[in-house]
Amino acid sequence: MNQSAHQEIIELRDLINFHNHRYHSLDSPLIGDAEFDQLMVRLRKLESDHPNLITSESPTQRVGSKPLESFSGIPHPVPMLSLANAFNIDDIQAWHKRASSSLGTSDFSMVIEPKIDGLAVALTYENGILTRGATRGDGLIGEDVTNNVRTIKSIPLVLQSNVEIPRLEVRGEIYMPKGSFENLNALRIKSGEQLFANPRNAAAGSLRQLDPQITASRNLEIWVYQLGYTEGFTPPNSHWEIMSWLKSIGFRINPDVQPVFSQEEIEAYYKIWLDKRFNEDYQTDGLVIKVDSTNLQSKLGTAGREPRWAIAFKFPSEQVITKLLDINFSVGRTGTLNPYAVLEAVQVSGVTIRQATLHNDDDIARKDLRIGDYVIVERAGDVIPKVVGPILERRNGTEIHYKVPYECPCPLKTHLIVKEPDSIMHKCMNPECPAQQIERLKHFTSQSGMDIEGLGEKLITSLTENGLINDFPDFYKLTADQLISLDRMGSKSAQNLISSIQKSKFKPLSSLICALGIKHVGIETAEILSAKFKNLGNLMNASTGELEQVNGIGPVMAESIRSHFEIEKNKQIVHLLASLGVPDQETASEPLGTKNYLDSKSFVITGRLESFTRSTVESLIKNLGGTISSKVTSKTDFLVCGEDPGSKLDGARSLNVKILSEAEFIEMVNSYD
Ligand code: IVH
Repeated sequence: MNQSAHQEIIELRDLINFHNHRYHSLDSPLIGDAEFDQLMVRLRKLESDHPNLITSESPTQRVGSKPLESFSGIPHPVPMLSLANAFNIDDIQAWHKRASSSLGTSDFSMVIEPKIDGLAVALTYENGILTRGATRGDGLIGEDVTNNVRTIKSIPLVLQSNVEIPRLEVRGEIYMPKGSFENLNALRIKSGEQLFANPRNAAAGSLRQLDPQITASRNLEIWVYQLGYTEGFTPPNSHWEIMSWLKSIGFRINPDVQPVFSQEEIEAYYKIWLDKRFNEDYQTDGLVIKVDSTNLQSKLGTAGREPRWAIAFKFPSEQVITKLLDINFSVGRTGTLNPYAVLEAVQVSGVTIRQATLHNDDDIARKDLRIGDYVIVERAGDVIPKVVGPILERRNGTEIHYKVPYECPCPLKTHLIVKEPDSIMHKCMNPECPAQQIERLKHFTSQSGMDIEGLGEKLITSLTENGLINDFPDFYKLTADQLISLDRMGSKSAQNLISSIQKSKFKPLSSLICALGIKHVGIETAEILSAKFKNLGNLMNASTGELEQVNGIGPVMAESIRSHFEIEKNKQIVHLLASLGVPDQETASEPLGTKNYLDSKSFVITGRLESFTRSTVESLIKNLGGTISSKVTSKTDFLVCGEDPGSKLDGARSLNVKILSEAEFIEMVNSYD
């Protein structure tokens, strides 16, 4: 090993880490960008001359890793909890009182800080080196986003500590600064990509990327706000001290974290932040108040999934005034006419709003909304915006009373509109209503249904208008040639869509039950039904009595399921789907190897597959009786070859192994149904 190069590399890395921390975490750089770049250039040169000296924690390696096939799950050593909400100072008082009575004293200090509206991550450091990054997931198991968090410059790859830290897990919120969010969306408008609704979605969409290069190209930041799991050392024993210690070893800690001792101080801080929040470059939806002492935190413990030692003090949702231009209806898949407000475009919490839900006629009448009114529109976090009410003082007499709908907004403009006695909604009773049909088809292809990627509203509308799709089974009859005949559909997209449609045949039975669009049956009920009835034949024949026996199915649902399958057409759809290869029974849970279609044939997979994750394709092959191996040998029967195949392709060619493209593989698997 070249000793002097090694020494220089170590020194350069330390220096770069130090300046990186000054710049990204402390916001106080000591050197200019050009000087910093020079250090990086020198380090890159040394590392390229001595590749054996490259280590994963080198600052040159932030964006080193290759795209993943899928994220794997990482269990959190300590669950990631959520926070109880307070909406006013009385709620805070009540929380403080509960904590005081449980601790036997009201004399404890607290810490207050902004609640960042981003997404939570847990970062693990082993012996001072970043080894893992995980999203919150369900709080118990997160997604492994290590390669992605490594690209975020304010996350240290190496800790700056002169005491041993064998294992440390910190938690914080990843966010996209408001300015970067706007720039990103401006770029996406230019490239015709879908816009992110808000900075939080943009941050989540950027972090949860299989390709770390994409994450690296987005400007993400972190505020670290909590110590998670530790091992092998004793951390400080108060939140306040933990935060300053974490800052000293390299983490980015929000400068507005502040100790507080009374409700008056909490209220004063809150009042300042009601305005101050708009001047920050990150979105915040409230404040977090935490009991400072970790000893007292442990004494207070948790209630369900929320700690008793902390509470979120939410800001009121943002309200704006705009004009109500019209009241329109959208048609639900069961014919319900959902009223919505058409608004003069207005910005609320960083998002442009043009529509807002109006719930139902009674809601409109109660609020006395008139077309032409100036109205208050409110948006709380991610929630769909709503119209709070009209500003009566701004009426000038030209406002028009809203009329209950008398025709369906679909192109047929059917007059079969009724208000059922037990309902507060109007409904279009035309079974041939094209708007309902599109909603049903959308529901069928949606994520909780058959999850057919690439089949959005526009395409579904075009498919129905061109007479290619009338009902669910038609999706499985589509050919690539038919798709190519549509406007703006290239052969690659057509092929991808056919693959997605074919892939949907492997969805669990619950997805199919949900996709059928039975009134009151969402994915959770569908899962219950699938577990109980095992196949659609059993479900279709079940009486209301039998259905009601099932835990989780009430009389209304039971009646809805029975009456759905009483309709001959609905039964036919299930039979037709089955004849087209959409299984009407649970297949994935069958014991492995029971379907020995693949006759123990040996498969090797290489390259990136468009329609499957590695694990899906592997379990598919195993379920059909095949075996998987990682190396191509003379015993390999098939090589499934995706994009950018590796050396396995050459190996397979030289050994005369049959090579299947992804499309050929899908075709082969489908032929077994
Ligand atoms: S402390 C027990 N501090 O809010 C959880 N959380 O609604 C302790 N969050 O999952 C979390 N800013 O993702 C804490 N300053 C802050 C926070 C914060 C944002 C998020 C966090 C948590 C969610 C709960």
